Amino acid sequence: MTGVSSQPERDDPVGDQPGGRAVELRTEQLAKSFGDEVVLRGVDLEVCRGQIVAVVGASGSGKTVLLDCMVRLLEVSGGRVFAADHGRAGSPLTEITRAKERVLQRIRLHWAVVFQRNALFSGSVYENIALLLREHTKLSERAIVQRARESLGACALDVDDVLHKDRDELSGGMAKRVAIARAIAIDPAVLFYDEPTTGLDPVVSGSIHELIWNMHHRPRSTGEQRTTVIVTHDKELLRRLSPRVVMLHHGEICYDGEYAGFGGSDCEPAQEYLREMPVLHGRKAGG
Ligand SMILES: Nc1ncnc2c1ncn2[C@@H]1O[C@H](COP(=O)(O)OP(=O)(O)O)[C@@H](O)[C@H]1O
Ligand SMILES: [Mg+2]
Repeated sequence: MTGVSSQPERDDPVGDQPGGRAVELRTEQLAKSFGDEVVLRGVDLEVCRGQIVAVVGASGSGKTVLLDCMVRLLEVSGGRVFAADHGRAGSPLTEITRAKERVLQRIRLHWAVVFQRNALFSGSVYENIALLLREHTKLSERAIVQRARESLGACALDVDDVLHKDRDELSGGMAKRVAIARAIAIDPAVLFYDEPTTGLDPVVSGSIHELIWNMHHRPRSTGEQRTTVIVTHDKELLRRLSPRVVMLHHGEICYDGEYAGFGGSDCEPAQEYLREMPVLHGRKAGG
């Protein structure tokens, strides 16, 4: 057997360069149900290298489920997901919905997910970052300390103050920054965020928008562009990052395009979403 094309999990004949732009991720007719509840009913989505893509939609519309299916934290009910394999430069996209654990692991070395609740392990900030680096790299302990410090610094944290803090001592905004620092420490090709600003006040949210932007543009050691996928309902984030917007509605994509065209699109759920104002004054507490 010669070449990668002989491997059954690499069966995308189209290759990964439509219009000269490398594809990082592609879903084809991705479907996901839980029992009788159909959450995704045929999602076709292609994410190209270097893009910032925001997946929006009402609460419960399947944004997190889509993200989890894309990184195969969830098994799909139908359709396929393909991803670039940065461990094998130049190879065709790999169908991760069928990939063996070994292949999946290799692909995941180049992905970082910032989860909604951060998913920091109990222990210190340093241990959180070091653990991931020990798993992902062959760096010496000394180099790991260096990398941890650089990553925390890049996330505008006071390194000496935060490095040995316990996870449970961090404020919401700091914990988010640490989660992002841990993600960026592995120099990922793709950074996924699930609701990065939920639960944070507007000022802290604003600083997280900036951080997402900066991490996206932070040069990679390979010289390649980074790709960012954000699941969010934060309209201010859309306004500030002006990403490609993908809107989910009733399990399907109802808008996919530039942010600039989102408000003017004839997609009714988009209009509704943009009209919705999260203003609470005037309401009774708890109402
Ligand atoms: N593990 C699960 N088991 C059963 N139902 C689930 C599971 N995860 C998500 N769901 C359902 O899928 C729907 C979409 O959820 P989710 O993707 O979390 O929405 P959101 O767009 O708010 O992120 C919801 O109705 C939720 O109840
Ligand atoms: Mg969600």
